[in-house]
Amino acid sequence: MEPPTRMNFPITRKRRLRKTEHLREAIAETHLRPADLIYPLFINDEQHSRIAVPSMPGIYQNSVNNAVIEAGKALEAGIRAVLVFGIPAEKDQEGSSAWFEQGVVQRGIRELKRQFGKDLLVIADTCLCEYTSHGHCGVLLEGRVLNDPSLELLARTAVSQAEAGADIIAPSDMMDGRVAYIRDSLDDAGYDDTPIMAYSAKYASALYGPFRDAAESTPASGDRKGYQMDPRNAREALEEVSLDIHEGADIIMVKPALPYLDIISQVRKMTNLPVAAYNVSGEYSMVKAAAANGWLDEKATVLELLTGIKRAGADLIISYHALDAADWLKQGR
Ligand code: PBG
Ligand code: ZN
Repeated sequence: MEPPTRMNFPITRKRRLRKTEHLREAIAETHLRPADLIYPLFINDEQHSRIAVPSMPGIYQNSVNNAVIEAGKALEAGIRAVLVFGIPAEKDQEGSSAWFEQGVVQRGIRELKRQFGKDLLVIADTCLCEYTSHGHCGVLLEGRVLNDPSLELLARTAVSQAEAGADIIAPSDMMDGRVAYIRDSLDDAGYDDTPIMAYSAKYASALYGPFRDAAESTPASGDRKGYQMDPRNAREALEEVSLDIHEGADIIMVKPALPYLDIISQVRKMTNLPVAAYNVSGEYSMVKAAAANGWLDEKATVLELLTGIKRAGADLIISYHALDAADWLKQGR
């Protein structure tokens, strides 16, 4: 133990190294780079339009053509990866448009890979909630989401996304055993080198509200507390993470980010795998609303929040602020 700093004063003065911008930069412990960011893209079944999402200013439901334009902007800003979500024209009880060869997300993935090839990492969110008429992430029977019957549908979806050219498969459903099931199915289909980024510690959060507007995936009845995690639990998150590691996950995700920095930090300590954090829709909308009112400086706030997520231990950050943040990073603080 060091003696109390009071005894070191005036010899020790922490402010010496905070004196100038160059000194601060020289000793900075955390560095946020555009390449750390992943930009989410919503792709719909329209021809040439884009539709604004009212609760997420600056975010759109994109046609396939617009998704290409948005991904081009991301690349130009130095971002290397997008996370794609599909908004299908038709939904049914099973969510079968999730694995159609001509499904909206499959067409989007194919077009993004055709345009950008290896320059752009296309990550596919694998879930059923955007495709089911009831809005749940798996098979619904008498008000319950059935675990094991959902696995086959999720695996079909993952394989169809890999067939379309997805570079990474990201299951977000929170069914037990899905990482192993999807891993086996990808391997059987010849995609043994397609990585899985698992939404391992995904909490049942109020902060997904704006996303569900954007993706039109609000459950018609009930909520997701029967499969997503309880915000009160931290040890359980580590259990989820170790299960996913054993099932073959290549990248571990914690979601949301800001109320769960303790989880990101603990996951960082328990595994040497890459850790991703999802700075979710509600976290975006809160900043946007406050900035629109002139209550917060948007640039300074966003860079501070993203840096905090990185400092907690995230290697990768999925954020709706990614485009703006990457531009701001290039300008310098
Ligand atoms: C689908 C999915 C959700 C998000 C990512 N994938 C919504 C949910 O689970 O309800 C949330 C993302 C966000 O809020 O930005 N399972
Ligand atoms: Zn879902």
